[in-house]
This record gives sequence, structure tokens and C-alpha cells, in this order.
Amino acid sequence: MSTTTILIVAAEAFPLAKTGGLGDAITGMARALTERGIAATVLLPAYRGVAGRLDGAREVARLEDLPGGDARLLSGVCPVSELSFLLLENDALYDRGGLYMNDEGAEHADNGVRYAALCHAAVRIARGLPGLPRPTVVHAHDWHAALTPLLLRDAGIDDVKSVLTIHNLAFQGQFPLEDAAALGIPPACRSEDAMVAWNQLNFMKAGIRHADRVTTVSRTYAREILTPAFGCGLDGLLRERAADLMAIPNGIDTALWDPSRDPQLGPLRYHAGDLANKRLCKTVLQREFDLLPDPQATLVVLGSRLTEQKMADVAADALPRVLDTHADMQVAILGQGDRRLESALKSLAARYPKRCATRIGYNETGAHRLHAGGDILLHGSRFEPFGLTPLYAMRYGTVPVGSRVGGMADTIEDPGADAPLTAMAFANGLLFDGDGPDAMADALSRAMHLRRHPTLWRAMQRNAMTRDFSWQRAVGPYERLIHSLAGDAAVEDAAVASAPARSSHAGQRRTRQARGSMPMPL
Ligand code: ADP
Ligand code: GLC
Repeated sequence: MSTTTILIVAAEAFPLAKTGGLGDAITGMARALTERGIAATVLLPAYRGVAGRLDGAREVARLEDLPGGDARLLSGVCPVSELSFLLLENDALYDRGGLYMNDEGAEHADNGVRYAALCHAAVRIARGLPGLPRPTVVHAHDWHAALTPLLLRDAGIDDVKSVLTIHNLAFQGQFPLEDAAALGIPPACRSEDAMVAWNQLNFMKAGIRHADRVTTVSRTYAREILTPAFGCGLDGLLRERAADLMAIPNGIDTALWDPSRDPQLGPLRYHAGDLANKRLCKTVLQREFDLLPDPQATLVVLGSRLTEQKMADVAADALPRVLDTHADMQVAILGQGDRRLESALKSLAARYPKRCATRIGYNETGAHRLHAGGDILLHGSRFEPFGLTPLYAMRYGTVPVGSRVGGMADTIEDPGADAPLTAMAFANGLLFDGDGPDAMADALSRAMHLRRHPTLWRAMQRNAMTRDFSWQRAVGPYERLIHSLAGDAAVEDAAVASAPARSSHAGQRRTRQARGSMPMPL
């Protein structure tokens, strides 16, 4: 059997380029697939400084007449992730600060061209370039790469299959129709049927419409996006493609996010069996955030993009209510995002000196230390396709209080406020509904109350720390999907067992779901 090769097309890959969970998911998934014998190469824009961070970066092709001009393709290996990369180099497009936005927080005006070029480059690679192997499957992620399946079809390349994974349907890549020529969109594709929505070119629509398979990153989000409430206007199209839509939950990198090995914790490493150093991590965090050095305080941490998706606006309303009720509560916030929400959370800190502190910025080390030093993670989301952050917090024994949406509804186990208190011994976090500040405040108060039951709390921490969310466990469904698209005979039987909905009856579906071992067909 020849090696199955996959070209992963994405705008982020940790640690080379990351603004959020997409970067983590790409690297984790690609590494896990590689470990399973699938040759994965990631195609990424050569953002500023990225080529210099690869081992042995060298030019392997020149690509003429892409959107935005001629480009070079560089090949190299990331020494940290040990993954193979193809970098698309066009300094006019990618050699600037900020992946998607400038320093003032405004989107780069030419993002359409920047990511259309990436998709066209993927198609050139799929068609075949001298010295480069052709991929068996192209795996496009999010809107940045979502033009690829349409361009593959238009180019008549039908021996390379395509998968689109939706990490966040709210970002669709919408651009004026007049840009079509500059984006290299063939005239025949400038239609509602192909990719136009609301009178604009829509990259995400192009991907959903034309990919051989569409996946998304949690079971609940897969169901949610079929509804108008979460479908961001594309729920109708997604329903049309439901037979080819699969939920494949992400995993996490359990080596990188491991309190017993984390170099970011210095000597204060710890594990589920002994949390003494976690208490010291809290002291360090209190010092770093200039909070009262009180070991008895309950430290609530919030680490995320500060946006409406992440309910930063609701947190700004809810937190004062809980801080006023619980004198032993402290809050540490690390994040960046909407300027308005950043300043709301900074004002909150000013209102509660020594009890609430807000650090604006992006700080990878800081995120590790936040999870290590916290007692509770507050993670509200209006929608959450997967939600890596609560899983990182869990690994560090920081109990998440999250919204019952998307991936959090699947990974956070909470018997509920109405269940007997003892049932919480089986919980690994708390969930709340909706986006009202009262619901968020009540959930935090519930967590504060549970903290007063040390045995229960300890059980919750242990449950959180020991549940296996690793990529090694999560990657199986991707592996089977890729082999099945590649038509690899040896694995076809296994793949058929987890085939998408087209052939499954509701009864079979329920059985698989109960076993939890298969990607859930819808
Ligand atoms: P999303 O991708 O929607 O932002 P996830 O929870 O899946 O949400 O992933 C967020 C990732 O970004 C995590 O790795 C988290 O640690 C990281 N992150 C978010 N904000 C910051 C920040 N200000 N500093 C450091 N890391 C951050
Ligand atoms: C997106 C989602 C987040 C998810 C991440 C990785 O950014 O907002 O929920 O965890 O992608 O799939």
C-alpha cells in the first residue's frame, strides 16, 4: 500500500503562527496523524519570521500569477513540532505584523487576496509540482483555506479528495463580488450555487458546498450549526450536506499541557496525586497579578480572546456581583481582543484593587501559569465549536465553569445544580445556560460553594486532571476518514464502520454514540 499523504491547509500552526485554538488543533492533529503513518505536510503562509524558524528551509517551487503576485514555496521542518511545512512566501502579502489584523486591531484590507493565494497554492501542489509528492487528500481548515475544494473541482482534479474542517463558522471570509478576479475566482464560480451568499463571495460557503467531506470539531457544535441560531446563515447549506458532515472532536497535546512536566512552572510542577505545588503556583500567580497573597482565597482565572463569542461583556457584568458576594474570591484575567471589552475588564480591575487584575496581551507562558495557579476557570461562550482552554485548565486541576454550548457541553461533565451534592464527585466542571450575567454569576457562586467541600472539590479536580483528552485518543476518526477517502483497501472496513450518516440508521447511530468510539454521524 502506498503511503497516504495529506496536505493540511491552514492559517495557523503552533508554535509558528497562533492566535487561538486553531493553531493548537492543526499541530496536534498533524502530529497525531503522522504518528499513525499518514504523511502530513502543512501549507502555511510564510508570515514574518516563520521561514527562519524552520530547519533547512529551501525553495522547492516558484508559483507564478497567484492572487497578489508571484510567490515561492519553501519546504522545511519545524524543530519544535517536527512537522513538515510548505510555506507560501510572498512578502507583500505576509511579511507584516499580525496574522489577520494590524496593530490598531483592524483587519488587513487584503485578507481576501492573502488567503485566496494560499488556496490557489494548495491547488497547484495538488495538481503536481516537480519534486513534490501529490497529496491523496487536501484537508482545508476554516475560511482561510475553504476556497480550496471549489478550486480543486474547477481545475478538474478529482483524484485528490478534499475535507473541510469548520473550527469557527462565525468567520466566513466574505468579500465583495468585484474582488472575484483579483481573488482568482473563475467566472463560472461567481454564483449563489458555487460560493456567493448575501451578494458577497463567501469562502466558507465555497468549502462547505464543494468539499468531499465537511467535519466540525465537536458533536454538539455539529448539531448546533444545522440550526438558524448557530448556523450563521449557512445552516441551510449545511443541512443539505448533512450526509457528508461529521463531528470529529479535537484532542489536546497532553505533553505540552502537563503540570508534571511543564517548564513554564519552573520547580513548581505537580500531578493529580499531590497538589501541594499547585497551591504555590497560586501564590506565584497572585504575586504576578498583584493580588493579595492569600492562600485561602479562591482564584478565578479567565484566559481567552476578549470578544463577545467568549462573553467577555457578560463577565464584566457578572464578576462584580460575585466579587461583592464572596469576599474570599479573587480574579485574574489574561486576554486580548475587542478594545471596548478590554477596557471594561481593565475598569473592573481598577474597581477591585488587589482582588481583581487584568493583563491585556497575548502570552503563551502566561496561559500555562494561569491554568496552574487558578482554582476555577471562568469560560463563558455564546458558541464554542470545541473549546481547548477548559481542557487545558482541567489538566492543571483548575475546575472550569463554562457555557453549555458546543464542545464544552460534551467535555464538561456536570450533574447539575439540582442533583444531590454528592453527585458532584463525578463531575469535572460546572455548566450554565445562556448569556445572562445572572446565570454566569450563579454558576460561579455554585463553584464557590463547592470549594467549601474539600473532598468533593478534590474529586472534581482529580476527574478533570485524569480524563484522557489526548490527540492520540482523538485522532482515530480523522485517520479512518482519510484512509477511506484515499480508498486504502486495508482500512476500508474500519472506515466503513465509522462512515458518515449517509448509510446509518438512527438506532445504529445511538449505539455508536453510546460507545463514544466513533465520529458521530449526524
Ligand atoms: P479559540 O480558538 O476560540 O480562541 P480555544 O479555547 O479553543 O478558543 O483556544 C484558545 C487558545 O488560545 C488556547 O491555546 C489559549 O491558551 C490561547 N489563548 C487565548 N488567549 C490567549 C492569551 N491572551 N495569551 C495566551 N494564550 C491565549
Ligand atoms: C476555534 C473555536 C474553538 C476551537 C478551536 C480549535 O477557534 O472557536 O472553540 O477549540 O477553533 O478547533
